[in-house]
Amino acid sequence: MTKPIPLLIDTDPGVDDALAILMAFNDPGHDVVGLSIAAGNVGLEHTVRNALKLCEVAGRDDVPVFAGCASPLVFVPREDAAHVHGRDGFGDVDYEPVARRAEAEHAALAILRLSHRYAGELLLVALGPLTNIALALKLDPTLPSRIKRFVVMGGAVTGHGNITQAAEFNVAFDPEAAHVVFEGFPVFDLADWEAVIAHGFHHQKAERWLQADSPRARFYDAISLQTRRWSADRRGELWHSADALAMAYALQPDGALELAKRPLQVETAGALTRGATVTDWNRQTGRPDKARILLRYDQARFEGLVEAALAAG
Ligand code: RIB
Ligand code: CA
Repeated sequence: MTKPIPLLIDTDPGVDDALAILMAFNDPGHDVVGLSIAAGNVGLEHTVRNALKLCEVAGRDDVPVFAGCASPLVFVPREDAAHVHGRDGFGDVDYEPVARRAEAEHAALAILRLSHRYAGELLLVALGPLTNIALALKLDPTLPSRIKRFVVMGGAVTGHGNITQAAEFNVAFDPEAAHVVFEGFPVFDLADWEAVIAHGFHHQKAERWLQADSPRARFYDAISLQTRRWSADRRGELWHSADALAMAYALQPDGALELAKRPLQVETAGALTRGATVTDWNRQTGRPDKARILLRYDQARFEGLVEAALAAG
């Protein structure tokens, strides 16, 4: 049996973050060594509390939770995603608070420490705004040399944004951080918003999965109800889970059926385009092909990972 791959997840739970984390908890090939928490979907106080609650529900209080930056590097964004995930980020179900608290160590410092502890082995997955990872990079620009693989949920590689017409939420929430990270890493795997839209699953199927007789399914059924209703109203018969797709790509990269490697830069100026991930499809800039962009993933495999994660435990 090969040793499980150490996995560090930087995340802003959020309902889809929660599904991605449950997928990671359920993968025997990976060992979740920590959750570093960002502000994003909702404020940091809620995202930290949600991460601690999810660990408790999943029976994973062994996983350390590290609180990160409460706001973006430079400008405070106009809006969060409470309209999608609920004011508390977990569907406003008023769950029982947990006794456990986050570690005293800041997320950025934990990212650096764990990169040394697991140097050359660590899989780093970013599911929220990139503020913590940008701060870690600024503290130690050698961070990427110790990361075996870096997977990011973010961006909109042909400009079909979800929070503005040009930008995806994670990048738009902290464009300066995304710029620092995409410039600071030599290569990264990207599951962007457009890939997410291409890999939705039917609400009825999801509702069936949520009936599994497990605490994880019951909890997820509750916290996801608001966002499933929101999605059905606005996007019709398919439900999309951005972070779950990114986690499938992270846990089982061989499920990726089509990829494109291209240079990619973040627009930080421009009233209309701030947060856009400008992809050099025709390689006009001469910049390196840093982004390994997911275009198509094995849908059956993706759905199987989601179903199994909910039924586990
Ligand atoms: O655009 C989707 C991303 O923004 C997801 O990570 C979701 O959780 C929100 O953070
Ligand atoms: Ca997220």
